Amino acid sequence: MTRVARTRAELAELRRTLPGRVGVVMTMGALHDGHAALMRAAAGLADSVLVTVFVNPLQFGAGEDLDRYPRTFDADLQMCEREGVAVVFAPGVDVVYPYGEPAVRVSAGPLGDRFEGAHRPGHFDGVLTVVAKLLNLTRPDVAVFGEKDAQQLALIRQLVRDLDFGVEIVGVPTVREPDGLAMSSRNAYLSADERAAALVLHRALSTGDLGAARAMLDAEPAVTVDYVALVDEETWMDPSESTDFGRLLVAARVGKTRLIDNVSVRLGTRHVG
Ligand code: PAJ
Repeated sequence: MTRVARTRAELAELRRTLPGRVGVVMTMGALHDGHAALMRAAAGLADSVLVTVFVNPLQFGAGEDLDRYPRTFDADLQMCEREGVAVVFAPGVDVVYPYGEPAVRVSAGPLGDRFEGAHRPGHFDGVLTVVAKLLNLTRPDVAVFGEKDAQQLALIRQLVRDLDFGVEIVGVPTVREPDGLAMSSRNAYLSADERAAALVLHRALSTGDLGAARAMLDAEPAVTVDYVALVDEETWMDPSESTDFGRLLVAARVGKTRLIDNVSVRLGTRHVG
């Protein structure tokens, strides 16, 4: 039986009862098979799994989808039950931010201003601030995040390293629909036509080539590209001659819906021989 904590006191009480290593999966709810994959990965790494469900206002910009973000708590809880999750922490905004908007926040640094951060100012400060708070509240041994949000994962690794959180961070590969579309809570916004157009993101990334990806995306009139870029997977800077693996990134708007996706690209052969 999955137990639900709504308040800090309830969380502290339930957290105390969890034996052995604790794995945490942080989510904003509207759970899908991508989230389930994270829960399974956490279950393989820990003795008990704790899932957080919280739509964090701090990481949404003005005019973004905070108010219409899908909220499906009953179905979310059923998935957690199916996956054998021990505890769900589903706090309200007043529980996470009892003093209102926090005056002190985590600054994501230079990587926080690039790619997603360039299009969503303050987004990653908001993400890292809530991730820091949820790590402090849940005190996991290991926390699992999706490669779907590769820049977020890279920044959480930096957060934990730079501020000595003492938690293991594990990334999980992106879970896709059979036709390649990366699973996302925001896919629920897409009309049938938009969903068909959105497939170009994965098709473009599958070329493994920046120029080819850009050309393919530009040829799809229903899709407006925010950025498409190739970075060194380790440094997130431009790939160099010695880069083994790059990450090909895309963010694009399909109608009113903003989608992101990425794949790992092997570049290493360039400097061999
Ligand atoms: P959310 O978008 O709900 O995603 C929660 C976790 O699920 C993240 O680690 C994300 O990368 C992962 N995820 C989403 N779609 C996935 C997919 N198709 N395959 C694999 N993993 C996937 O990311 C957030 O929430 C928030 O920013 C959060 C970290 C909870 C902080 O508020």
